[in-house]
Amino acid sequence: MSEQIQDLQLEHSKYITDLGDWTRTCSCSHLTAEDVGRDVCLMGWVQFRRDHGGLIFVDLRDREGLTQVVFSPDVAPEAHEQAGILRLEYVIAIKGRVRTRPEGMANPNLKTGEIEVVVHDWKLLNTSKTPPFAIEDRCDAGENLRLAWRFLDLRRPCMQKNLILRHRAMQAIRRFLDEDGFLEVETPFLTKSTPEGARDFLVPSRLNQGSFYALPQSPQLFKQLLMCSGFEKYFQIVRCFRDEDLRADRQPEFTQVDMELSFVNEEDVMSMAERLMQRVFKDVLGRELQLPFPRMTWDEAMRDYGVDKPDTRFGMKLVELTDAVRNSGFKLFAQAPMVKAIKVEGGESLTRKEIDAYTEFVRIYGAQGLAWIKIKSDTEWQSPIAKFLSEEERETIRTRLEAKTGDILFFQAGDPEMVNAALGNLRVHIAQKLNLIPADSFNFLWVTEFPLFEYDKEEHRYVACHHPFTSPMEGHMELMTSDPAHAKARAYDMVLNGNEVGGGSIRIHSAATQMRMFEALGFSDERAEEQFGFLFHALEFGAPPHGGIAFGLDRLIMLLAGCQSIRDVIAFPKTQKATCLLTSAPSQVSQAQLRELGIRLREAPEKKAEARADKPQA
Ligand code: AMO
Repeated sequence: MSEQIQDLQLEHSKYITDLGDWTRTCSCSHLTAEDVGRDVCLMGWVQFRRDHGGLIFVDLRDREGLTQVVFSPDVAPEAHEQAGILRLEYVIAIKGRVRTRPEGMANPNLKTGEIEVVVHDWKLLNTSKTPPFAIEDRCDAGENLRLAWRFLDLRRPCMQKNLILRHRAMQAIRRFLDEDGFLEVETPFLTKSTPEGARDFLVPSRLNQGSFYALPQSPQLFKQLLMCSGFEKYFQIVRCFRDEDLRADRQPEFTQVDMELSFVNEEDVMSMAERLMQRVFKDVLGRELQLPFPRMTWDEAMRDYGVDKPDTRFGMKLVELTDAVRNSGFKLFAQAPMVKAIKVEGGESLTRKEIDAYTEFVRIYGAQGLAWIKIKSDTEWQSPIAKFLSEEERETIRTRLEAKTGDILFFQAGDPEMVNAALGNLRVHIAQKLNLIPADSFNFLWVTEFPLFEYDKEEHRYVACHHPFTSPMEGHMELMTSDPAHAKARAYDMVLNGNEVGGGSIRIHSAATQMRMFEALGFSDERAEEQFGFLFHALEFGAPPHGGIAFGLDRLIMLLAGCQSIRDVIAFPKTQKATCLLTSAPSQVSQAQLRELGIRLREAPEKKAEARADKPQA
């Protein structure tokens, strides 16, 4: 900022006053032609100022909207003269009279566009330095700059709209759950590790040196204990902490709408969760959702979409070809444990460059390459691989994929996990790139019958797919130890437009079954007792059958608000590197603080890498 403006601000600061006995009569979005002639008092920020024909026009902004206020030398000469000091983001209070805007000057895009307020008197409530970016929806500042100055970023109408929507959704959720007999109970943040599959954030204990609390990855164990205590229906809108790789839909601390119910089966939990969504969509967006939501087993989802959270807003399903190319002359296909393909209708016009970009994309999922065929005509297939395929193979491919002239087919061959991940994600990627996804549609889906376990290649052992308190499906108890790969869980995920917005399960409520589960996961009796003794004891004292679900609130709001990242619906989010650019957290602490905790760092901390030029100065 130039010294000149700084000096000006210092100069202006001497005019700053308190509100005194002034009270706001309405918000900056309130006034319409019906209010003409009314005397009002408005307060807010200077969004825009222009001088025109001796008049000073100011767009005054508050949380609700904008009102044009006019300083006129004829109406209030002193107020007009003083208004010369106004700059962007100055905070003012004005008193004045509502009048119709002159002929041809109405702004149909603004709720208050028909009127303006002619100022009789005003107060300067505060000055402002020049903001580092424009406080408006269309702002081209990078996200890091916006996060470093989040308090200004949050002034932008679109960000306010997102947080207002979040508030509305939270209130709708609370209303619904209260009316449905749920009790809101808080559970501890300083607790013991809960195995939800991520790393824990640890908090050292000063009073018990050498011991650590873990911040909860979810309130899973506590909500189960509350069922054992007889609360029957619990909920909490609660912060959860997970130290995992971050993406657009993941934050290290995020909010869950967490619920647990006693004496229920899957149907009860799922129908309650559907009704809750119905209420949120109705109250927040005014949209009616049709119930029940469609369902798909995990096996079907993997078969047809390659992922466990299918986006069902468009087709392009994965088609299995493994059997059809088993004896193919094309060895890559013949020898692969799985071969699948997708069809992009009309994709024959894709350029070599686009196909190369898709090939690069599937490499993220471990694919070596991406085979393709352009169907030029019934007989002409343009492709690096077509020549290896027999007439019979071509015919099967054509029939199974319903391939027509003008289409392009993409193939993937290899181990099933890679094939599904590569094609499943490519399907969504292509649909986004080619605009194949209908805008403004909300496709809900339940995915059910998840595997109970998944194999952890790094740890060479099975781990719980959902969490280790999830009940096996009827008749799958034996498989827990005899054939863990095929044991299925009483777990369900709610998927919205290809995003996992919620997940839950019916829990194990017998101590003996819980013990078997820990055995299957390779826990010794001692370790299970040491880590989860309190849960075993609770299960031994008359635990009722129970189950529940947790929604990822941030993800849900992101989708309701039509945003691409959950950071846009969280007031103070972390970056992809889990830092807060506003407060500089995490930060180094003093030797004295470490000593008090009995902690000595093995190496002197490095100088902070993320010293930022764009950080607000104190
Ligand atoms: P789960 O681990 O599936 O289940 O989490 C529930 C939902 O929380 C959201 N979510 C996240 N959102 C943002 N950032 C993250 N890092 C993140 N991780 C998860 C997802 C997910 O569907 N205790 C169980 C629930 C239960 O069984 O009742 C649990 O936490 O939308």
